[in-house]
Amino acid sequence: MSETAKSRAAALPHLRRGRLAKGDPIPLPLTMAAIFHAPGDATGFDQYGRFSNPTWDAVEHMLAHLEDAPCVAFPSGMAAISAVFFGLLKAGDRILLPSDGYHTTRALADRFLKSFGIACDVRPTSSFLDGGFDGYRLAFVETPANPGLDICDIAAVAEAVHKAGAVLVVDNTTMTPFGQRPLDLGADIVIAADTKAPNGHSDVLFGHVASRDADIISRVTDWRETSGAIPGPFEAWLVHRGLETLEVRFDRMCASAEMIARRLKNHRAISGLRFPGLESDPSHNLARAQMERFGFLISFVLASEDKAEDFINNCALMQAATSFGGVHTSAERRSKRGDAVPPGFVRLSVGCEPVEELWQAIEASLDAIGG
Ligand SMILES: Cc1ncc(COP(=O)(O)O)c(C=O)c1O
Repeated sequence: MSETAKSRAAALPHLRRGRLAKGDPIPLPLTMAAIFHAPGDATGFDQYGRFSNPTWDAVEHMLAHLEDAPCVAFPSGMAAISAVFFGLLKAGDRILLPSDGYHTTRALADRFLKSFGIACDVRPTSSFLDGGFDGYRLAFVETPANPGLDICDIAAVAEAVHKAGAVLVVDNTTMTPFGQRPLDLGADIVIAADTKAPNGHSDVLFGHVASRDADIISRVTDWRETSGAIPGPFEAWLVHRGLETLEVRFDRMCASAEMIARRLKNHRAISGLRFPGLESDPSHNLARAQMERFGFLISFVLASEDKAEDFINNCALMQAATSFGGVHTSAERRSKRGDAVPPGFVRLSVGCEPVEELWQAIEASLDAIGG
């Protein structure tokens, strides 16, 4: 971890300190309120739960500290992506999405943006620069892309996107601010599903938008207040708690994933393994240059749908579940969600279990399905 990441992590649990009055609780109180005491002029304080809430403020303060940029919280990752699209785009705009990223982002463009007169093209993450960005209002990348884990050069894409007069949005969900810093690499907007590693306990959906552009922050805030796509205070409180341990969880998960990916690569049952931290991975050099860590996701292919299901379902230290980034290791056969991958393709999310015990459970389940 870089020195700046360490000092950012060290300051995180003490962020509230500067705001405490004598006798205030050290942990964050949960404010469940739709209305607030609001006599006289309606400015400068909390008034109504769709406009603001002290528990959101606290989680946004933490996220802003991590992103080094103002942040707006949303009730899910998709709500954050929707806020960027609906807050910034207008009829006649054209946008570019990854063809191999999270499928619901494309579905949003296809099923809703198109009907409002916004055109959408797609391009593979690994060749996202090819073809340039002329004519686009917004380009959106996901790197590493979920689930195939291809990556693209954020700084090079940002430069080309800006030359074309467009804005670059990076979905940083697979990496978190401790693993990759797209705003520092030139992106205009980061969105993330805090549902994943930032909350980390798989009990909440949450998301955020980060940007150093005041106009962008104002537009997504306006979208949230006007559309009503607001996070619940309790969810914000849980994410605040989760963020306090993000650095320690993420560190363990990334270190374990690196060790497990090396061992999986040599297992006879596995082909097509992708993990950006392996020297043999096609993305490795770029990953070394732009990522602070290599993440906790590994993808690979088993011989058939049945073998992949057996591997996941019979592994004693693995949850068969969609999503990723929880304290528990989990895995999913992604073709069942409609991703364009082989039937035996598995996305593995490495959790916080002690790594040797985890590896033994994974190896036993792989050995049981045969080569
Ligand atoms: C890369 C990526 N972005 C966005 C999302 C959407 O997040 P949420 O499920 O919180 O809406 C997901 C969900 O899996 C995702 O994997």
